[in-house]
Formats: sequence, C-alpha cells, structure tokens
Amino acid sequence: MARRKIIIDTDPGQDDAVAILLALSSPEELDVLGITAVAGNVPLPLTSRNARVICELAGKHETPIFAGCAAPLQRRLVTAEHVHGKTGLDGYDLPDPTLPLRDAHAVDFIIETLRTEAPGSVTLCPLGPLTNIATALTRAPDIAGRVQEIVLMGGAYFEVGNITPAAEFNIYVDPEAADIVFKSGIPITVMPLDVTHKALINPPRLEAIRAIGTPLSQAVGGWMDFYERFDVEKYGGAGGPLHDPTVIAYLLRPDLFSGKHINVEIETASDLTRGMTVADWWRVTDRKANATFVGDLNAEGFFGLLTERLARL
Ligand code: BDR
Ligand code: CA
Repeated sequence: MARRKIIIDTDPGQDDAVAILLALSSPEELDVLGITAVAGNVPLPLTSRNARVICELAGKHETPIFAGCAAPLQRRLVTAEHVHGKTGLDGYDLPDPTLPLRDAHAVDFIIETLRTEAPGSVTLCPLGPLTNIATALTRAPDIAGRVQEIVLMGGAYFEVGNITPAAEFNIYVDPEAADIVFKSGIPITVMPLDVTHKALINPPRLEAIRAIGTPLSQAVGGWMDFYERFDVEKYGGAGGPLHDPTVIAYLLRPDLFSGKHINVEIETASDLTRGMTVADWWRVTDRKANATFVGDLNAEGFFGLLTERLARL
C-alpha cells in the first residue's frame, strides 16, 4: 500500500484521541502531515490542548499541531461536555503538554499544504465540525481540485440523530460548513452513525486494549470507561460507539467497510431538522451522487486492527 499523506482535522474528544493514536501508530501506511484543531466537543483552547496531550502520549513530538476556528461559520458554538466531560478528555488525567502549538492558523496550514504537495496526494480526515475545512475551501477555492479525498465522521441516515432527533453532532454544530464541503465536488467518504453504531467498544474489546499493558493503553482504557457511559445509558447494550477511529481504519483497511455512492445534502434552513444529512440511500431522486456513505463494517476486524496498532506505540 502506498503511504498516504493525511491531515487530521479534529475536536478531541476521547474517540478523536483514539483515531489520532491509530494514525500515529501506522507510519508505514500514513504520513500525518499535521493535526488541525477545531472547536466542537469542547471549545478551541481545550481541543488544541488535547491534540498536544495525545501526540505527547504517543511520543510523537514532531507532529505539527495547529489551532483553527473557534466558532462555527454562522452559529453559536454547541459543545458536548455531557459526553466528553469538562476537559473533552475526561477519564484519565495526563500532565499539561510541553509540545507547542505551531504559530500558523490551521486554515492557512491546510491551504498551504494543499498548494505545496502534489495535486491529488493529500487526504483530509475531519473528525469534528467542518468549520476549518469549509473556511479553507471558501478562502482558497483552488485547493478543492487538489484534495485526493475527504474521509469524514459525521451524519446519519438510518440512525438519524444523536444531538437532536434529526442530526448527528459534527454536522449539527456547523451545518453551513458541512453544506460547503458536501457541495465542493471533492470525492467524499462518510462514516455516519449508521456504521459507527456498529463499532461498539464492549467489555472484551476494552479488556484486550487494557491487556496491552502500556501507559498508553491504560490512558485509552480510562478514556473509554468515561466516554462510553453516556451512550450505554442512552442506547442500552454492551458498549459505546467508537466513532472517529473508523475514519483512520478505513484508510488502513477499506475492505472492512461497505457503503453506497449516493447523493447527500445538508439541511441548513429548518430549525427542527438543522444539520440533518439527507442521504438518498435508496436512490429515489435524480440528484447527483456526491459521497460514499458507509453503512457497515466488520467490527471484529476493526477492533483487531485497533488493538494491534495501539500495541505498537
Ligand atoms: C461525533 O461527535 C463527537 O462527540 C465525537 O467525537 C464524534 O466525532 C459523533 O457524533
Ligand atoms: Ca470528534
């Protein structure tokens, strides 16, 4: 497999943290050019701090980290402390990071990187609201044609919503940004709740990660215990969904996932259904397909990959 250049755009978040660790543990396949933080699960000062904590935990001090947009394009920021805790990374305390943030703004880094790297060689991996990506596309429309692919976590069709009855959190927080991204013409692969709700971190899977026995695996164990309590209570069942790592796992093992290339539009007008991903799963319109919407995964394969990779750090 050719080494793929990626930028991870993220709002950590315990599940973002696991996604970042999965990417950093896979240097043979993935070249992480940078991590760009955005406001989402918690405000920007915390998401950019957490990105530094995670890279430091992984011992990847050379990873460039940039702070980006502090608020959605047109809306007041909605956060998710009720899921992720006050810090966004509740569940395992780690020291304040010494790793500095880079001086540049995340949006400038995204634009600059896409203009410098060979056309079609950089994949964007958004794990939070799409504010940084949409701002970059608006400010520098020339970069759209240079992106290899966007593989993002967001949206839902059959599972409908998790922050409102109609919408998934990442899209709900900044629907105007999502609308820009889905209309950009860039090849998009979407990991919606329909697939992430099948990636459940149940007790045996969590135990396998803890059994790695490294300080990093203990941190992941603590985060997961805290993070999954909310969804286990909400949905019942034996484990919470591990959303964001599906994006990185897809880059490493696309064979573990299946979906359909369909039309996906974002609801921005209605208050009731704000941020809904209107996915034409049954192809009942003649609207042009603009995204591969993933619906299923091999959960055992996914957790096997994750555990094997975390053991490398
Ligand atoms: C998404 O929202 C956040 O809470 C998670 O980190 C994930 O990116 C799931 O709806
Ligand atoms: Ca996230």
